[in-house]
Amino acid sequence: MLCQRRMRVVLALCLLLVLWQCFRAPTDGLGPFPWTPSLFDTPAAHCGASTNSSAWFRARYNMSMGPLLTGAAHELSSDVVQWWLTLQGPPRGGQLQAIIQQLFTVLRAPASSMWDTSRCRTCAVVGNSGRLKGSGHGLRIDAHDWVLRMNRAKIPGFELDVGMRTTHHFMYPESAVNLGPNVHLILIPFKPLDLWWLASAFSTGELTHTYVRVKQFIKADRNKVLILSPAFLKYIHDNWTQRHGRYPSTGFTALLFALHLCQQVSVFGFGADSEGNWHHYWEKNRWSGAFRRTRVHDADVEFSIINRLAAEGRILFYK
Ligand code: C5P
Repeated sequence: MLCQRRMRVVLALCLLLVLWQCFRAPTDGLGPFPWTPSLFDTPAAHCGASTNSSAWFRARYNMSMGPLLTGAAHELSSDVVQWWLTLQGPPRGGQLQAIIQQLFTVLRAPASSMWDTSRCRTCAVVGNSGRLKGSGHGLRIDAHDWVLRMNRAKIPGFELDVGMRTTHHFMYPESAVNLGPNVHLILIPFKPLDLWWLASAFSTGELTHTYVRVKQFIKADRNKVLILSPAFLKYIHDNWTQRHGRYPSTGFTALLFALHLCQQVSVFGFGADSEGNWHHYWEKNRWSGAFRRTRVHDADVEFSIINRLAAEGRILFYK
């Protein structure tokens, strides 16, 4: 009898816990369960939420800054070009404007629907952090309109934690992977050679080396290729990371891209392990403390900005 009563109390407590998980706001991701499979908490449910801009946000966010190169006639200002040419190796400009023009004879300019803000577009930015392992975030990630992944992100075998869908994949030549149909390849160019590589990988395959061996050809939908503007990279470096690190990480760049093109942004797979290692969810720590060693990016500054954006209700950060 006593035993039955105890069982009932335990069951009632479990039910309460499950209900609390269903209804709580997921902004901090710090609950007892890493993932909240709630029917009531769809990404779109956060779309209409009005957020008052803080002075901190207003000082950084520039609404008029477009993330992408828009076509053959896209002009980059000289201060952008000067900064951009120093990112990887000694400045070798070549005919940057000519390269861009040439590229857009091979590629299409981005569709104007990219900038359509009339509907609520929900976006999941999925970084490659080992923190995703065992997270069970897969379904939640896939519930977004856009799912943004990057570099060597892997899906097969990790679906429960990282989801199955990809709509946009950020890469640079040295991190390039083949993509499935209908996925937007977003090139983050760090040097003129990266633009050449893109044209080459879709045509002659003449470029096989940058500072390492790179993919000669890439399998991806040529009509869905987008190129991040060097001006957008500089904007992130100046306004957001405020010149900490040499330039922003792929993940932080993807997050800012989403902040500019999506009405609701959920962020998954960011953050080092407990020892500060830059780990990936699909492998054992190969890159111990990579960011700290190279000083290319400032992982701590980026992470604190992500936390601040979450605290201000600009993003949902699933830790
Ligand atoms: O390692 P990789 O650059 O491919 O990871 C993609 C992005 O995910 C990084 O640029 C970074 O922003 C984020 N990341 C992270 N914590 C990790 C690993 C990656 O925040 N442990």
